[in-house]
Amino acid sequence: MKILFYKPESDDARAWVALLARALPSADVRLWTPGDTAPADYAVLWRPPPELFVGREHLRAIFLIGAGVDALLALERRAPGTLPTGVPIVRLEDTGMAEQMIEYAMHAALRYLRRFDEYELAQRASTGAGAAPWQALVPHERESFHVGVLGLGVLGARVARALASLGLPVRGYSRSVKTIEGVTTFAGRDAQPAFLSGLKLLVNLLPSTPDTDGILNRQTFSHLSPGAYLVNLARGAHLVEPDLIDALSNGRLAAATLDVFAQEPLPAEHPFWRMPRVTITPHISALTLPEPAVQQIARKIEALTRGEEIGGIVDLHRGY
Ligand code: NAP
Ligand code: GLV
Repeated sequence: MKILFYKPESDDARAWVALLARALPSADVRLWTPGDTAPADYAVLWRPPPELFVGREHLRAIFLIGAGVDALLALERRAPGTLPTGVPIVRLEDTGMAEQMIEYAMHAALRYLRRFDEYELAQRASTGAGAAPWQALVPHERESFHVGVLGLGVLGARVARALASLGLPVRGYSRSVKTIEGVTTFAGRDAQPAFLSGLKLLVNLLPSTPDTDGILNRQTFSHLSPGAYLVNLARGAHLVEPDLIDALSNGRLAAATLDVFAQEPLPAEHPFWRMPRVTITPHISALTLPEPAVQQIARKIEALTRGEEIGGIVDLHRGY
């Protein structure tokens, strides 16, 4: 069995090849480089150049070393015919990402619940310009701190459950109907206003698709509780950045924590770097952990070889 591996940052690509080779000892695993058109059975990759897929109709599956498939599907949208027809695309399912997302979302929720963001602002304002007032702020009431999680898939469902375990009232939103203990669920576009109504904190864990891009916009913010908080952990394409800037300046939103951006790395001149009520992190809310990722991919390759079904196959029509 021949396996191609590609990822754009080449610093650890050889380590990935070694991990794959160890997990599938009978496979011939190689790093794909431009011009390599030799046969392969599987491709394991992230953000490949279109050239990698030329003449690759015989691949048995394409495995992504991430959860989101938007960048790969965008290649096909930009140039139809780029991806080999009929080859299943398989994404990572959790492999340690849910735990990281839970940590990030809980940290953000508790920071806003207890108003630590405002204490940070007060401390920063005191430097050089006299001491900030020594003043206790009244924390938000837990019972009315309604949290909404957009997306109840592999990651969103776990995050919603974890936030509910803090005693917060949690709602979740998905395309199809879901039942999650301790979470009030809403499904479909018609249910969106009821889901959003009066939320104090909105956490986004949707995939980026033509249906969901731009969902974090002025209209969405208008349904939230005045002075609500936004946490975007999914993709920059979900957020209409000028609408967030307006909502923060007119008080509709109190603050935002953003892990993902329309352009990454976030350009040095971008206003988010200097907005005191915006907290940014460099797309790290859930990193791919190589060892569990390779184990999952290897077990799925073995299952396919035995003719068994596997999870994580992307529905190209839905876009996730
Ligand atoms: P997933 O399992 O595919 O879950 C997606 C969820 O979104 C599902 O509940 C789905 O509903 C819902 N959904 C999709 N389209 C919808 C629509 N139009 N309206 C309402 N709900 C919709 O994905 P996942 O593994 O949880 O990952 C979610 C996203 O997180 C990824 O796509 C990726 O972009 C992002 N991510 C970010 C990082 C980071 O470090 N920042 C890391 C990993 C992943 P159904 O359940 O009804 O299908
Ligand atoms: C990271 O953003 C991923 O989709 O895995």
